[in-house]
Amino acid sequence: MHELDSITEDSLVAKGGRKWSSFPGSLGAFIAEMDFGVAPVVREALRELDDRDLYGYAPHGLVADLKSATADFYARRCGWQFPSAHVELASDVLAGFIGVLQFLTRPGTPIVLPTPAYMPFFDVARVAGRDLIEVPMKRRADDWALDLAAIDAALSPGSIFVLCNPHNPIGKVYSEEELLSIAEVVERNGARVFSDEIHAPLVYSPARHTPYASLNEVTAAHTVTATAASKAFNIPGLKCAQLILTTDEDRRVWKDKGGFVSGAASNPGILATTAAYTRGDEWLEEITEYLRGSRDLLSDLIAEHLPRASYIAPEGTYLAWLDLRGYGFETDLFGHFNTKAKVAITEGRLCGEVGQGHIRLNFALPRPLLREAVERIGAAVAS
Ligand SMILES: Cc1ncc(COP(=O)(O)O)c(C=O)c1O
Repeated sequence: MHELDSITEDSLVAKGGRKWSSFPGSLGAFIAEMDFGVAPVVREALRELDDRDLYGYAPHGLVADLKSATADFYARRCGWQFPSAHVELASDVLAGFIGVLQFLTRPGTPIVLPTPAYMPFFDVARVAGRDLIEVPMKRRADDWALDLAAIDAALSPGSIFVLCNPHNPIGKVYSEEELLSIAEVVERNGARVFSDEIHAPLVYSPARHTPYASLNEVTAAHTVTATAASKAFNIPGLKCAQLILTTDEDRRVWKDKGGFVSGAASNPGILATTAAYTRGDEWLEEITEYLRGSRDLLSDLIAEHLPRASYIAPEGTYLAWLDLRGYGFETDLFGHFNTKAKVAITEGRLCGEVGQGHIRLNFALPRPLLREAVERIGAAVAS
């Protein structure tokens, strides 16, 4: 038995996090947080914040340390070399995305989004006043593919293609070849890419994360990359994300206009992220191994308890995307499972029109609770 298996529902409810307090009595398998706490180096960083009384505005030295830590982390893990001066901060990836749309893209240009997609991308488009064009992914027998012809038709000069790699909610990790084919279509249309790589550290070998902007000069020139330690190190409440700006012009405009966005990164987030990126590898490896085991267990559980579900195991992230239309589901799967199974999942329809009849299940639960969640969902599909 793994140490993390012994974390109980009672202890998670007692902590009172959003995952376990939003739907009392239900197992929390919706919002993207893990139930495994944080790395010891993160706790040390927060103690340091208190010891050094770092409650004022972010000191320049700490910001510089984080920028270097971000560059070192990506060089070490993905072989992507960029100067630390290419890193800018934001409170979180979504606030960064809104800033990017506002400052670095042509006003009024649409967002092209492969679906199913991370739910808040739809809200970002609405808040930023941009049209959003959904482009359904192609579901093949045992993998997903982008519909490049449809993306080509949807893109226009200045429009923004949202690449989510690893892809929430389907867990796809894009190959270099696939990324190059995106680049060709984007370049042909004079469009740009917002590459959300927040889940990059959580990839299960043999899959390997390739940063889109790292491919070549062409991708670097039309891309803004966003990332954060918030998913892999489980610290979304600390508010700190990183934007990697790979063009001189983007960096110039951001220096001029992006100050309020970057200034919203918090000291706890800056310190904790620096610690995670520089000294968090061991914890990350342990968690990734646990999640890999949980992912494999989940495949078995689905085969046993949800045999009519259509499912492709993710190559990255701790999110699983299940097609339950084989059970006749169309709408309000959240309500059904929250009531009948006492499991809080994410309604697939929130991920786009193609999500109808699907659910997103967060499997970063202690395994006994994951087992219980799938057993209960299995019993509830029958009722
Ligand atoms: C793909 C993706 N982007 C962004 C976010 C949100 O990140 P942040 O809290 O940094 O805005 C998430 C959270 O789950 C996510 O999965």
